[in-house]
Amino acid sequence: MKASTEMSRRHFLRLGANALAALATLEILGASLLFLKPRSMEGEFGGMVKAGPTDSFPPGSITEFPDGRFFLIRAKDGGFLAVYRRCTHLGCAVSWEPAANEFVCPCHGSHFDFYGDVQNPPAPRALDAFAVHIEEGDVWVDTSRPQSRDEFKSDQLVYA
Ligand code: FES
Repeated sequence: MKASTEMSRRHFLRLGANALAALATLEILGASLLFLKPRSMEGEFGGMVKAGPTDSFPPGSITEFPDGRFFLIRAKDGGFLAVYRRCTHLGCAVSWEPAANEFVCPCHGSHFDFYGDVQNPPAPRALDAFAVHIEEGDVWVDTSRPQSRDEFKSDQLVYA
């Protein structure tokens, strides 16, 4: 009788140990899958973001995309430019101030004009840009790689 109890206890302990080992394996597998998962998903910062139809952005407008961390600029001549909201001084998020017609950094007072050019230092250069693609009437912004630029040049604008 005692041997039988001892066996079932051993059996129970072995089952528990196996269950714990299986759980640990699942956790490691889950962590590995998370690590292997692409860092960015379409539609989010770090990936391709569909801004919308070209017609929805009037010439001379600036539209913020908080999830994409960029502003979409549409110049008066219809050209598009996407700028990263990250200040080129120390990285604070700039905001667009329509009344002043400029981007303002809250941290150390840098100002940038409509195209992201520095108007007031300490920012050392224009806001970084993201590649813009226009496909079948929609504006897409590739937020995977900010492009450093010293200043705005008209060839940075993209046309439909
Ligand atoms: S981080 Fe923008 S001015 Fe310093």
